[in-house]
This record gives sequence, C-alpha cells and structure tokens, in this order.
Amino acid sequence: MQPKITTIERHILEQQKRYPNATGEFTSLLYDLALAAKLIARETTRAGLAEIIGTADTANVYGEQQQKLDLFADEIIYKMNDHTERLCAMASEEHDELIPIPPRFGTGKYVLLYDPLDGSSNIDVNVSVGTIFAIHRKISTGPRGTLDDVLQPGRRLVAAGYIVYGSSTMMVYSTGQGVHGFTLDPGVGEFLLSHDDIRIPSPPKYYSTNQGNEKYWTHGVRRFTRWLQGIDGEGHRPLSHRYIGSMVSDFHRNLLRGGVFYYPGDMQDPEKPYGKMRLLFEAQALAFLVEQAGGYASDGVGPVLDIEPHTLHQRVPLFLGNRELVEQAETFIRQHDQEWIDAYLPYRNRQKTAV
Ligand code: AHG
Ligand code: MN
Ligand code: MN
Repeated sequence: MQPKITTIERHILEQQKRYPNATGEFTSLLYDLALAAKLIARETTRAGLAEIIGTADTANVYGEQQQKLDLFADEIIYKMNDHTERLCAMASEEHDELIPIPPRFGTGKYVLLYDPLDGSSNIDVNVSVGTIFAIHRKISTGPRGTLDDVLQPGRRLVAAGYIVYGSSTMMVYSTGQGVHGFTLDPGVGEFLLSHDDIRIPSPPKYYSTNQGNEKYWTHGVRRFTRWLQGIDGEGHRPLSHRYIGSMVSDFHRNLLRGGVFYYPGDMQDPEKPYGKMRLLFEAQALAFLVEQAGGYASDGVGPVLDIEPHTLHQRVPLFLGNRELVEQAETFIRQHDQEWIDAYLPYRNRQKTAV
C-alpha cells in the first residue's frame, strides 16, 4: 500500500482545523510563501546558468553587497503578498524601512518579516542558501501596519519557518504545534510532508560557528568551544565541527542531527558587542522553531524569544540548538564574561524609538 501523501496545503489546513475561529487567511498566507519558495528555488537551482548570477550594484542597510538573487527573492516574496489583503505590512532584511502595503490594496491582520535569501555569499559557489520567514499578528489599531506590529518579541509569533535550497528544496515551518518539514517534489511541483514533528535529537553531533573569529571571542565563548570539543569539562564525546556559512543550512542540519549553531557577540568594538545575526529577520524565527523542536535559543544572557525588539535591524548574539548545549554557553558566559554582559545589556534593553 502507498504511504499517505500529504501536501503542504493539506497539512496547513489540517493544523488550522484545530483553531475553531480560523478563517483560512492564515492557511493561504503560508501557502503563498510556499509558492514564493518554489519560484525562488527555480532561480537558485539554475543560478549558474542564468544571467541573473552576480552582484547587484546596490548595498543594503548593513553596507553588504546584495546578490542579484537577493533582490529577486525579495521582490518575489513582496509581490506574492502585497495584494492579498492578509498582511498589514512587511519587513525585509533588504529594506531599510517597514514595507507598507500599497494604498490601492486592502490590509489584513498579519505582518510578515523575512530574510529573502540567507547565506547569499554562497550562491556563486553552489552552496545551499535559504529563506527565513516569521509571522506576527497585527497589534496596532489603525488600518495600516506600523513598526509596533513588527517590533514584537518572538514569543508572540504565530508562525515561522524557512526554506532551504539544497540538494533538494525543503520548507520547514511551525505554527506553534511542532515543527514539520516538506520536501519539494520537482516533478509535481508540490511540497510533500517528509519530516513530521521534528524533534532535535540527543546526543547532539555538531557545533557550527565561524571559528575564524575566535581571536575576537570572549573568554566564556572560547571555554564553551573547548567544552564542545571535549577538551575542557566532563570528558563527553567531542562534537564534530560543521560550518556552511548559511545559517539556515547550518540550522537545518543541526535540527535533524542535533547540535548548536552560534554567532556570539564580542568585544572587538565595545560599542558593538552584539554579534552579526539580525533579531527580526533571522534569529526570532529560528529561535521559535528550535523551541518547538525541544531545543533552546539564547543570546548568551537569556531566551531570544523574550527580547523586546527596539529597532528594525537590531542585531543579536545567537546560540541555537540542543537545550543542554545552549544552557552551557550561558553558564560559561555568566562565569567569565561580565565585561561583555555589561557592554551588551544596555543594547538588549534599549527602549523602542521612533514608532
Ligand atoms: P545573509 O546572507 O542573509 O546576509 O546572512 C548571512 C549570515 C548567515 O546566514 C550566516 O550564518 C552568517 O551570515 C555567516 O557569517 P560569517 O561569514 O561571518 O561566518
Ligand atoms: Mn541572513
Ligand atoms: Mn539575506
């Protein structure tokens, strides 16, 4: 007998049935994202062939060069969602400001945050990249979305997920009822359920970090790394090191095999003790997913999901993976990195501006 085949659409619909008041709007929103993912996958998988490959002339708000596929992916997600009347606003890593819904279209009760292409420096060398998305409910009272709708703690997310464009294309999402993974069948063009109810396995296998930055790391982070390597501590088995440099891909591997991804803050510039990852476009979504899978995400001080964002492009130190590993990072930081904590906390606790 054939096993049951579940498309992503059916899965989202079935999950929604658990909410008696669901209107189906949310189901359609996730399905639109799946469709955007298919279009982006089509381009990323032929990047070497298409003219589209290469570097665009513009830089984004972080001063990084944007790859053409970054812009393409950004545009696809925007266009797929600007007119559906399901969103009140959007925000993207590639836009300095909140993205309003054009006045000619109506608005809805959700807000979408996304990193259209994560790990984009890997495109030209044929290494997996991804898309990250997060959905909040609108909390402002006017008809159009405001920054207030976007600057919400991750704990309030109604859904989050990612798409990884790798040896196959996979979409992984959660609406707060576990984490579910779907693989794109290119023959039929559908995402089919392949990884139901993902739990991060233990014992973990991998640690993933840019160890080339070690020179700048704090003592606590170095101690943590040595502990993962089995050098310091109770003599557990050393974890293997794997680092792709696309957080989505690194996260995906560790979600399925067990492990920890970290991009810590450091004191290279004491004015900027907060690391590289973006709280709203990268960290919140993956933190939501990892907790749903039984893991934990911390900035080294406490749960990422409890951080009250103060600005759209806020950065956050990030430790993401099996709970026992991430808690161990917190312990080392607490023991050794008071100077860093004192530099970082005022940034973490800054109040919202210009909303
Ligand atoms: P993006 O391509 O969206 O700018 O994100 C890149 C991020 C993340 O995906 C990755 O884990 C990290 O940058 C890699 O940074 P390093 O090159 O500093 O290791
Ligand atoms: Mn990114
Ligand atoms: Mn990006």
